[in-house]
Amino acid sequence: MSEQKTKLEQLEEMRGQALIGGGEARNQKRKEKGLKTARERINLFLDRGSFEELDMFKTHRCHDFDMEKEEILGDGVVTGYGTVNGRLVYVFAQDFTVLGGSLSKTMAEKICKVMEMAMKNGAPVIGLNDSGGARIQEGIEALAGYSDIFFKNVMASGVVPQISGIFGPCAGGAVYSPALTDFTIMVKDQSYMFLTGPKVVKAVTHEDVTTEQLGGASVHATKSGVIHYAADTEEDAIDYIRQLLSFFPQNNMEKPPVVETDDPVDRLVKELNEIIPENPNQGYDMKDVVLQTVDDGYFVEVQENFARNLMIGFARYGGRPVGIVANQPRFLAGVLDSDSSVKGARFVRFCDCFNIPLVTFEDVPGFLPGTHQEYNGVIRHGAKMLFAYAEATVPKITVITRKAYGGAYCVMSSKHLRGDINLSWPTGEIAVMGAKGAVEVLHARGAKKAADPKAYLKEKEQEYSDLFANPYVAAKKGYIDEVIEPAETRVKIIKALDMLKNKVDTNPRKKHGNIPL
Ligand code: HXC
Repeated sequence: MSEQKTKLEQLEEMRGQALIGGGEARNQKRKEKGLKTARERINLFLDRGSFEELDMFKTHRCHDFDMEKEEILGDGVVTGYGTVNGRLVYVFAQDFTVLGGSLSKTMAEKICKVMEMAMKNGAPVIGLNDSGGARIQEGIEALAGYSDIFFKNVMASGVVPQISGIFGPCAGGAVYSPALTDFTIMVKDQSYMFLTGPKVVKAVTHEDVTTEQLGGASVHATKSGVIHYAADTEEDAIDYIRQLLSFFPQNNMEKPPVVETDDPVDRLVKELNEIIPENPNQGYDMKDVVLQTVDDGYFVEVQENFARNLMIGFARYGGRPVGIVANQPRFLAGVLDSDSSVKGARFVRFCDCFNIPLVTFEDVPGFLPGTHQEYNGVIRHGAKMLFAYAEATVPKITVITRKAYGGAYCVMSSKHLRGDINLSWPTGEIAVMGAKGAVEVLHARGAKKAADPKAYLKEKEQEYSDLFANPYVAAKKGYIDEVIEPAETRVKIIKALDMLKNKVDTNPRKKHGNIPL
C-alpha cells in the first residue's frame, strides 16, 4: 500500500471518528428519543451541501479526572460556515453525545473562532445550543471559555446578526450567550433555559417546580419574554431562523436585501376604510391592518405571545424589508406597559443596528396606570422605548389609525422623535388624553355646579372630542405629514420607503448613550 493511500485512510478514519461524536450508543439513544444530532441540525439549517466544517479534529486539553481517556475529536461542538438561501452564515452546533455538550475551553475556542470570522467577513452567526453547561471537569477553564464567548457576543452585537436556537438543556452560564444574541428560539417540550435547575430552586426557595414550569419554551415565550419564538419541532425552529435571516442584511454596513414581488405596489386595500369600529372603546385586530398591507400578507411575528398589546415582526413593502411595531387594540386596548415597552425598544434597536426601516402602526390610549406598573418601573421601561425610537436613524414611518394619546403619542415614532413620514387616518385622535378623562379633570368643578352634572359632562366631552379627537390639529401644525384614506396605506408606505431609501441621519458623537436599563 502506498504511503499516500495510508495517509488518506488515516484521514478517512479520523473523519469517521469525529462524525460519531460521543459514540454509536449515545447517538442511538438520542435517535430513539426523536432528537437530531448536531450535524443533522446544521444540514437541515444550511443550503444542501454547503457546509464547510472547521476544527473537526480539535480536542480538549484537560488532564484532571482522567479526562485524557475521554478525548473525542471535535470536542462536543461542530463549527463552520455555509449558506442560507445562497448567503454566507457561520454556525456552531453543540453535540450532546460528547459529555453532554458541556462547554470546555476548547469548545469555547472553536465557537469564538467562527464568531471572529463572522465579524471579520460580515455575516450572521447562528448557534444551535444543546448543552449541560460548563464542563465540570475543567473548572475555571470552562468559565473562562464562557466569558470569552460572552465577550465575543457583545463585540459582535450590532455588527452581525446573532441568533440562538435552543434544542436541549441550557442551564447556568449557558443561558447568557443566547441572551446576548439578537433572537432566541426554543423547541416546545424539548428545550429549557434557567439559571438554576428545579433541585437548587427547591433547596433555596422551597418551591416545587418542574423543568418545564421553570424554563420551558412556553414559559419563556409568554411570561419572561426571554425568547422570541417557541417552535413546535426542531424543523419549525430552523425554518423560523431561516425566515428571520431573509429579512436581515449580512452586517451593519449593508442594507437589507430587496426581493422581487408580484404584489402590486399600487394595491389599494378598501377593507381598511371600514376596519375602525364606531365605538371608540371597541377593539379590532391590528394584525389585519398589517397582513392586508404588507407584500403577499407575509408577516413573521416576533414574540407573538409575550406582551401581546404590542405587535412586532418583519415584513416587506414593495420588496423592501421593514420592522413593524404596532399597538394591538385587541389586548389591553393596545396600551403601553412595562413588558411591551421593553419588547418594542429592543426590537427598534435591532432594526436600527441593521438598517431595517421601521413602520409603526399606532392606536394607543396611553401608558397603563396603576401601582403594579409603577412598582414594576413603567417609567424606566417606557423610557427605553422613547430612547430607542429617538436614537434610531433608519427610515421611520408612522401610521396613526385611531388613538394617539399622551406620552404614548410622543413615544410611538412621533415627528418629535425624528419620524420621517407621519401619516394619520381620518379616524386618528391625537390628544393629551381621551375625552372622558380630560373632561373629568377640566370640568369637575363645573359639573358640581350644573343642574344636570351628567348632561353637562356629556356636552363637554363632545366639545373636547370635536376639538381634539381628530388628526387635523396635529396636521395643521405639521406634526402629521398627511391625512390619508386607510385604503391608501400600503401605497403611501411603499412610496415613503422608496423616497427614504438613501436617508442619512446621524447622532452626536459619543462613546455610547445611556439607555435607561
Ligand atoms: C460534564 C456533563 C455535564 C457537565 C452532563 N454531562 N452535564 N459532563 N460537565 N456540565 C455528561 C454526563 O455526565 C453524561 O455523561 C452525559 O453528559 C449526559 O448527561 P445525563 O445526565 O446522562 O443526561 P440527561 O439525563 O439528559 O441530563 C442532562 C442534564 C444533566 C440535565 C443537562 O446532565 C445535568 O444536570 N448536567 C449538569 C448541569 C449543570 O449543573 N451544569 C453546570 C451549570 S453551571 P455520560 O458519560 O454518562 O454519557 C455553569 C456555570 C457557567 O454552567 C457560568 C458561566 C458564567
